[in-house]
Amino acid sequence: MIRLEGLSKSFGAYAAVSDLNLEVKPGEIVGFLGPNGAGKTTTVKMMTGLLRPTSGRVLVAGRDMARDPIAAKRAMGLVPDEPFVYPKLTGAEYLRFVGELYGVCLSDMKKRVPELLEMFELTPWGGELLESYSHGMRQKLVLGGILLHDPKILVLDEPMVGLDPKSARLVKDIFLRLARRGTAIFMCTHVLEIAEKLCHRIGVMTRGKLIACGTLDELRAQSKEEGRDLESVFLSLTGGAEYSTLLRHL
Ligand SMILES: Nc1ncnc2c1ncn2[C@@H]1O[C@H](COP(=O)(O)OP(=O)(O)OP(=O)(O)O)[C@@H](O)[C@H]1O
Ligand SMILES: [Mg+2]
Repeated sequence: MIRLEGLSKSFGAYAAVSDLNLEVKPGEIVGFLGPNGAGKTTTVKMMTGLLRPTSGRVLVAGRDMARDPIAAKRAMGLVPDEPFVYPKLTGAEYLRFVGELYGVCLSDMKKRVPELLEMFELTPWGGELLESYSHGMRQKLVLGGILLHDPKILVLDEPMVGLDPKSARLVKDIFLRLARRGTAIFMCTHVLEIAEKLCHRIGVMTRGKLIACGTLDELRAQSKEEGRDLESVFLSLTGGAEYSTLLRHL
């Protein structure tokens, strides 16, 4: 459903993403991990047509993002790293606005908007302006918005940030159910527990390069951390030796 071919992005002389090749299949949840500044958000922006690659190609549901951007974007739902919501819209207005952008018909919208507000426990605030929403409430609303047009591909940049434990559990269950129905999910996260429990495959990026990609067991084998948790595997892959020296100034 998503295929990245030799994808690269440079900002001046700085290579933020270098020759990235990756595939997400229908029904698969792929987690994308990496230290701050590794190039995850840059990858998401290229994948969703928000940033033009320096070289390489993005294919979404068989459509080339550069040649056929509208069709490619129509097939996906995106939660960006810093979602923007219009502060002077109410929650219900925001969902209707997003629905209209994606061409959801009015009768579907009348049914789906209250359902989504209810699912994310936002019904009492559906008529309130978004400027009064807390961070977590906004995040839930944005997650609701990407489910309106029932996309077959979800691209999520830190989707759990700010969610309370119950909401985070709800969102995890939603992703699992959608994946079982064939939705392809690509998710950047720093929450290793989510990557461990939710993702079928995990990619690890450092300094713009994909240094590992596979199941948790495959990553364990690659990092020679057999039997260890993902934190140990991650630290080993991304420079655990440096870690021990960081605390010396305390
Ligand atoms: N518009 C830009 N202009 C110049 N450099 C940029 C730009 N956008 C990103 N970068 C650089 O590219 C690198 C990768 O940034 P990116 O936001 O993709 O990292 P990330 O992996 O998402 O990090 P985080 O975990 O902190 O979200 C960083 O060094 C960043 O400074
Ligand atoms: Mg980021």
